Amino acid sequence: MKKIRKAVIPVAGIGTRFLPVTKSIPKEMLPIVDKPILHYIIEECVESGIEEILLINSPYKKCIKEYFDRNYELEDILKNRGKIKESKMIEEISKMATFFYITQNEPLGSGHAIGLAKDFVGNEPFAVLYGDDIIYSSDRPALKQLVEKYEINNSSIIGCLEVPKNVVNRYGIIKFKEGQNKIDTIIEKPSLDEAPSTVAGLGRYILNPEIFEYIENLNANKNGEYQFTDAMKEMMKDYNYEVCMIEGTYYDTGSKEGYLKANIDFSLKRDDLKDKVINILKETNLK
Ligand code: UTP
Repeated sequence: MKKIRKAVIPVAGIGTRFLPVTKSIPKEMLPIVDKPILHYIIEECVESGIEEILLINSPYKKCIKEYFDRNYELEDILKNRGKIKESKMIEEISKMATFFYITQNEPLGSGHAIGLAKDFVGNEPFAVLYGDDIIYSSDRPALKQLVEKYEINNSSIIGCLEVPKNVVNRYGIIKFKEGQNKIDTIIEKPSLDEAPSTVAGLGRYILNPEIFEYIENLNANKNGEYQFTDAMKEMMKDYNYEVCMIEGTYYDTGSKEGYLKANIDFSLKRDDLKDKVINILKETNLK
């Protein structure tokens, strides 16, 4: 059985939807309560059995590598001030997994970014997680749900969620092969009339390594970007792709609405914050 050991996380996008803050702070590093979005995604990888993580980074997002590297100076300062727990906590971040980095010098799209992972991946199946969405699951992490499904028949897999009809135009919507769980194609942001289902693809994938042949043959779209979905759509004509309906709550933290919702929900899960946040929400409601 092929084990999924490697994950690729593209984090080199320009974060247009979150300007102006993304002028100098990567959207993947915006905090949900007190941890960057990307930290939650790395935790999901680790809890799903991933050992090696490649971050496709931009030349302008050096703080991402700094966050996952060790910071001996800060550890020492904290220790000297008796903050042993805090010092240990920041030391642990660099030990979560083995991290690798490649620079995407220009933001030429998710397909171009993931294509840079070819040598890192080699000839084994691998996971892709987008760096700007969080899936909360109290039971099994989202990626683990995909990994377990992959182990059954080794088909490439897209993590999906059923969405309300009125928001199909925000997602890549799955068109199924007749009478099967297999994917025929993906329709990007369809109108309600055009939507072939209400099953939406999220930023979680398990791919067989043949994907790189399809990425190499990608054409740029009208914005000059090479889209990862287009490569998968071509590959679907030759290879099976399956859906994994993810059990969990999806937060599109790359959008302002999803980001704010994640902050409220995650703070309500925290014993040290829950009551305070409930009070703030009650007070806000009164005005
Ligand atoms: P998005 O399309 O959500 O990211 O890509 P974006 O382009 O930064 O977002 P907006 O629409 O402008 O706000 C999904 C993931 O792919 C990465 C992003 O960083 C994000 O984690 N990405 C996107 C790259 O690494 N390189 C790219 O050229 C584009």
